[in-house]
Amino acid sequence: MHDGKTYIVTGAASGIGTETAQVLKAQGATVIGVDRNAAEGVDAFHQADLSDPASIDALVAALPSGADGLANIAGVPPTAPASTVLKVNLYGLQRLTLGLVPKLADGASIANLASLAGFGWPNAVEQCKAALELTLESDVNEFAETQGLNADTVGRSYFLSKEALVVWTMQNRWTWRDRGITMNCVSPGPVETPILGDFVQTLGERAAEDMKVMDRPGTPADVAPVVSFALSENAKWFRGANLTVDGGMSSHILSNIHQL
Ligand SMILES: NC(=O)c1ccc[n+]([C@@H]2O[C@H](COP(=O)([O-])OP(=O)(O)OC[C@H]3O[C@@H](n4cnc5c(N)ncnc54)[C@H](O)[C@@H]3O)[C@@H](O)[C@H]2O)c1
Repeated sequence: MHDGKTYIVTGAASGIGTETAQVLKAQGATVIGVDRNAAEGVDAFHQADLSDPASIDALVAALPSGADGLANIAGVPPTAPASTVLKVNLYGLQRLTLGLVPKLADGASIANLASLAGFGWPNAVEQCKAALELTLESDVNEFAETQGLNADTVGRSYFLSKEALVVWTMQNRWTWRDRGITMNCVSPGPVETPILGDFVQTLGERAAEDMKVMDRPGTPADVAPVVSFALSENAKWFRGANLTVDGGMSSHILSNIHQL
């Protein structure tokens, strides 16, 4: 499916990023991994801190031109400080993406790992818009403070980072249409990776309820093929979309809301 293609995969050192790199390689692609930690099993690796503007700019300069896609998978869970969550999951992702677009091949695909945690964006439009006015160089901690995110104990910073990512992806449905470059989100439900415990810890009973209603949490192998699809030629009419892969959780929530 990906013969002759080259993809850049962030978060390649663990969990969904590692699995995505393996799936893409098995499907014929060359994979360039990016992470703050060393990644095994990729064709090339660049170490970078995606919360640091200088590190991202150096990464963009170092990455080769002509890649066929970017999978923005690196992320931190809600147990991290609110400003770190927003920086890695949103502002760093944006800086890398916007920096890299001029170097991507025409027709390239961008897949952003959002989350079921981004599901509630329609109820948080104003906060998403406010968050999206910042960049990695803004005073993100001050924003977190004024929005009450530092004092929050149930992971609002994480939810907001993913809601705003879903919104930003929609806003960019046609930004690079003249070059055939598409951008979409993939939104998993709870997935068994090293950060699943962080979600359970932060969300407490809410996570326990989700786990009860699901047959099982997802695995990286449930998600990686969807990211691969989002990067592929087969997904070329998906633009600004949010592909949910969550064992039915978003359908379950919608069914409850609308009493279906
Ligand atoms: N696991 C889940 O339940 C779940 C559910 C929905 C969405 N997601 C999202 O999927 C993505 C991957 O998560 P995962 O579950 O595979 O977690 P993971 O912890 O296994 O992998 C995340 C990777 O991101 C890297 N990373 C974190 N901060 C970084 C930084 N500043 N610079 C560079 N790299 C950095 C880590 O080193 C790690 O390799 C994340 O965006 C996460 O929010 C996860």
